Amino acid sequence: MADQLDKISTVDLLNELKRRYACLSKPDGRYIFLGAPGSGKGTQSQKLKKTHCYCHVSTGDLFREAVESNTEIGNRIKNVINEGKLVDDETVLTLVDEKLKSPQCKKGFILDGIPRTMKQAEELNNLLEKNQTPLNGVFFFNAPDEILAQRLGGRLIHTPSGRIYHKVFNPPKKPFRDDITDEPLTQREDDNEEVIKKRLIIYKNKTAPLIKYYETKNMLISLDATKSPTELEKNIADHISGTN
Ligand code: AP5
Ligand code: MG
Repeated sequence: MADQLDKISTVDLLNELKRRYACLSKPDGRYIFLGAPGSGKGTQSQKLKKTHCYCHVSTGDLFREAVESNTEIGNRIKNVINEGKLVDDETVLTLVDEKLKSPQCKKGFILDGIPRTMKQAEELNNLLEKNQTPLNGVFFFNAPDEILAQRLGGRLIHTPSGRIYHKVFNPPKKPFRDDITDEPLTQREDDNEEVIKKRLIIYKNKTAPLIKYYETKNMLISLDATKSPTELEKNIADHISGTN
């Protein structure tokens, strides 16, 4: 442990302690981020994870990681995600169940892009009931198709950390380089025009019905996802603290 800490600079260590200390004043929370591809779920998840110390459960990130490391799941789903189709419900729920057991999820969680089908929503209800961890709410990221296409077309990611950039809206300090590690940034395989179209159709057919589903349950918090990342971050934090 001490050996590992030696590798981290004192300034970084103090900043990390400050961040964790600030989290103590934030309420626990369990939220779903629902919205189309490119609506900003991942970007806001990363911010909320930092400010509130909730765990960020992104099946998309977990699947990409599995593909990169050639695991059994990765090889089975590689084509499914690169073609923009949905991974089967059982694989998704098993992964989520496992992830929610981790100690990082003690203060709360953000389910980024889960559920995506009615069946996943029902099974998630059962899982959360069994774990006695009821949801606090479902943030719906609402943005028109033209904006989604612009965002996905210019997105760059740092695969090892999952950090998200955009060529115009959130450019890295150095072109095509990660701000923290200076490693190269890449484009996601499913961020091409043809696959983006398919993902939007699947979203409308399979996932968008969940908006009504959670609205009926009185859980939906609708966000204008065309706003800037900073404004959205504030809207979300205000909802969580109960000032909105
Ligand atoms: P996943 O990785 O979850 O992809 P997605 O749902 O298509 O959503 P995205 O990650 O593309 O968009 P986002 O909303 O996170 O936007 P971001 O913040 O990056 O899933 C990938 C695949 O895995 C699926 O297609 C499926 O195959 C499979 N899968 C995953 N979960 C599954 C499930 N539950 N069931 C079955 N299959 C599943 O932002 C996009 C861009 O916009 C970035 O460049 C960002 O910098 C920029 N940006 C963000 N916010 C703003 C803003 N406010 N203003 C300007 N620019 C912004
Ligand atoms: Mg995402």
